[in-house]
Amino acid sequence: MLLYGNVHDDVCNATVLPGLKYIKINILSPFGNTTKGTFFLDLFLQNLNLLQMSELNKTTNSLHAGHETQLTEGTRAVPIYQTTSYVFNDTEHAANLFGLKEFGYIYTRLNNPTNDILEKRLAAIEGGVGAAVFSSGTSAISTTLLTLLKNGDHIVSSSSLYGGTYNLLNVTLPRFGIETSFIDPKIVNNFSEAIQANTKAIFIESLGNPKLDVLDIEAIAQIARQNNIPLIVDNTVATPMLLNPIKYGANIVIHSLTKYIGGQGNSLGGAVIDAGTFDWTSGKFPEFTEPSKGYHGLKYSEALGNIAFIVKLRIEGLRDLGGALSPYNSFQIIQGLETLSVRINQHSKNALAFAQWLRAHEQVEWVNYPGLETSEYHSLSQKYLPKGQSGIVTFGLKGGFEAAKKVTDATKLFSLLANIGDSKSLIIHPASTTHQQLTEEQQSSTGVTPDLIRLSIGLEDIEDLKNDLSQAISASL
Ligand SMILES: Cc1ncc(COP(=O)(O)O)c(C=O)c1O
Repeated sequence: MLLYGNVHDDVCNATVLPGLKYIKINILSPFGNTTKGTFFLDLFLQNLNLLQMSELNKTTNSLHAGHETQLTEGTRAVPIYQTTSYVFNDTEHAANLFGLKEFGYIYTRLNNPTNDILEKRLAAIEGGVGAAVFSSGTSAISTTLLTLLKNGDHIVSSSSLYGGTYNLLNVTLPRFGIETSFIDPKIVNNFSEAIQANTKAIFIESLGNPKLDVLDIEAIAQIARQNNIPLIVDNTVATPMLLNPIKYGANIVIHSLTKYIGGQGNSLGGAVIDAGTFDWTSGKFPEFTEPSKGYHGLKYSEALGNIAFIVKLRIEGLRDLGGALSPYNSFQIIQGLETLSVRINQHSKNALAFAQWLRAHEQVEWVNYPGLETSEYHSLSQKYLPKGQSGIVTFGLKGGFEAAKKVTDATKLFSLLANIGDSKSLIIHPASTTHQQLTEEQQSSTGVTPDLIRLSIGLEDIEDLKNDLSQAISASL
């Protein structure tokens, strides 16, 4: 069977028909003329691969998507392509690769076969048209924002954010003329009220770290759509196994792969997944409609259609800002991704049981976990996180700030460190550590109170975890 059409019209939008073996397409080059352009053919095939993969379930895709074993000498495990660069056939080949006339690997800062498989898997399980991986979650966020925004632009952001992201938006980006209005995301109207003529993005965390507030993504996405601005969702804490923001209208999804996706606390990484749903041609994003000074006059939207953002993020963002993921870390993260679905279910079960146990503890003042029926986010978590609410639990002790510090110091099984999403259980007192740079008012807007202890519940036997926290609380009295 044969399918024929223009690369970003009918063919990319076509569903994969059974028996489809050959694809003949008019390939439009980025410069408007018809070309051999196998670069676009490959992107198209990547789309096709995603379409095929999208017929499989997420758990299956987390193990198989993107890895064509016949292209890797039959290796069942994804190989590590630990190389900085790739040998060109001749100077014409090199010129074609640099000119985007032909697809191929150039330099690992731009693309790498191991990273490519991780990217395809993440795009498949989040339901996007493409993905790019980065050296950390922070690099994924900053490169996304610097690809979309420039001096004079504005972001509307949920105030309930990971402390590092809050700092990026609050301190660092303003140095480049990009301002952010932080709003309380619980009142959805706050988003529309904060939007200005120069607002170019809405930024949220689907499940805030450490506030654990579940955001009404569908309602926020509607506001973004009405204002022709993309909704960017950091989905790190929820993970793609528990929640797919694209299903509810998010345009761009970001992950710190360092957390649950990697899962073993051994490698930093980040990812951006493009839903391919945002229309960049409203006039608000000239970088997508005008010839790019950074790439031979390429008009991203016209040439690339629904993959315009993810291609720009790679060929300008990764090229110029340089936050590439090491292929070795990519391999480690792939090992984690392959077991994510079983791990995140167990993290969620353990965390719910632990939160219920904490609630009954006589020294405990309050407990926050969106899966608890008493949580103010319980009904939103039923809608957005029905399969589980991930592994983070926060609580406060009757002894307040001082007791929090003492308990954090006294645990033996819980490790005191600044991370979440490891298979091993973790503990931290944010007010005296990760959030100490923020004022008390800023801390409280990000959900950090002086007494708050954050637990990242791991995969140990829950009875051992209860015993460890019990002895730490006794030692703090
Ligand atoms: C929700 C969230 N997003 C992003 C990040 C940043 O990720 P990374 O540490 O990989 O740079 C973190 C780190 O804790 C996080 O919790």
